[in-house]
Amino acid sequence: MSAINESLNMARPTCVGIIGGGQLGKMIAHEARRMSFKIVILDPTVNCPASKIADEQIVADFKDENAIMKLAGECDVLTYEIELANSSALQQLESQNYPVRPAPETLRIIQTKFRQKSFLKDHKVVVPDFALVNSEKDLHNISQRFGFPMMLKACEDSYDGRGNFLVKSRDYVSEGLRYFSGKQCMVEEFIPFAKEISIMVARNPSGQIESFPVAENTHKNSILDTTIVPARVGRKVELKAKRLAEKAMSVLHGAGIFGIEMFVTKKGDVLLNEVAPRPHNSGHYSNEACSISQFEQHLRAVLDLPLAKPRLLTPAAMINILGPQGWEGSYTVEGLSNAAKVPGVKLYIYGKATSKPQRKLGHITAIGGTREEARTRARKARNAIRLVQSGAKSA
Ligand SMILES: Nc1ncnc2c1ncn2[C@@H]1O[C@H](COP(=O)(O)OP(=O)(O)O)[C@@H](O)[C@H]1O
Ligand SMILES: [Mg+2]
Repeated sequence: MSAINESLNMARPTCVGIIGGGQLGKMIAHEARRMSFKIVILDPTVNCPASKIADEQIVADFKDENAIMKLAGECDVLTYEIELANSSALQQLESQNYPVRPAPETLRIIQTKFRQKSFLKDHKVVVPDFALVNSEKDLHNISQRFGFPMMLKACEDSYDGRGNFLVKSRDYVSEGLRYFSGKQCMVEEFIPFAKEISIMVARNPSGQIESFPVAENTHKNSILDTTIVPARVGRKVELKAKRLAEKAMSVLHGAGIFGIEMFVTKKGDVLLNEVAPRPHNSGHYSNEACSISQFEQHLRAVLDLPLAKPRLLTPAAMINILGPQGWEGSYTVEGLSNAAKVPGVKLYIYGKATSKPQRKLGHITAIGGTREEARTRARKARNAIRLVQSGAKSA
């Protein structure tokens, strides 16, 4: 492969392959399109969000080895926007000197929550106390160390809070294990955090590292609801968070953007919750509020271009639009004109064909003079939007 970072040949534009074609792939593809890079996505769902923006889609399972090899053959560099990608197929490509960014080994470490936490702890990154759970007896024993509540987590394929169960007392131990029906689980001490924060950090193959500002996140039912920037933390906590994020980056390999989720305790200690080796929901605000978006920064990292130093241009708030409870199926988004009346607001609808409870279907970002004004605007626009089951009458 020729150097991918020096020129863009219009007869054969540099091509980035993305495993996963969800909203993150769609927003990466948007930025790539602006600069006329080519994007090919691999996703099992025809009409997935990124399919409308990418140049091509390979329709196959994220783990399909043949499809991954085909994707590599069509592209100059591969990246992934979901942790479900096949890390061993990517490792095989890497061993043939094919650029996979971030490093497949990082994906392998992160794919299993227990492996991720163990790796970080072994490398002296501060994380909540945790343990592997193999039986009900194990969980009862660990509760003597952690006390209640404890956070039980499925080790694999868990995201958007779907893999979490709060064990409130010993009465919930067996229910928790039943909830995950035989899946490998781990348990963590419950952190009664004062705040949740995150930082997006990018690294390019040349080793340049640049961080976005600290964002403050509010979760509902373990799934991200709102992000505000700048985070309401003092200078000391901000520095601790930056240091912790950089420490995590120094032990995890590969180029790309990483979302680093952290807890801030009432005492002002900062613990790392988890790392996502990809653009992250809590970095969406950067599209409107920063001098560079997380998606362009990711592309720059993947293409070995110089990274920008992200600057926050304005306070902002982001609110997710999630699938309503109680039904699953096709839907209509109503209330667009009332949402659009709110100043400073940008609406994102990902284009997923069906809604499911708690599924991420879109988001709203608002900018404002203060983060509070931005949040009020984002909430107002969010309240104007209704997701109505197709065929059902709206209220
Ligand atoms: N040990 C913990 N103590 C307190 N809250 C937690 C703990 N672990 C997770 N949570 C809550 O659940 C949310 C989702 O958990 P996380 O481990 O980040 O899983 P996911 O992969 O679903 O994002 C966190 O953002 C936080 O609000
Ligand atoms: Mg998380």
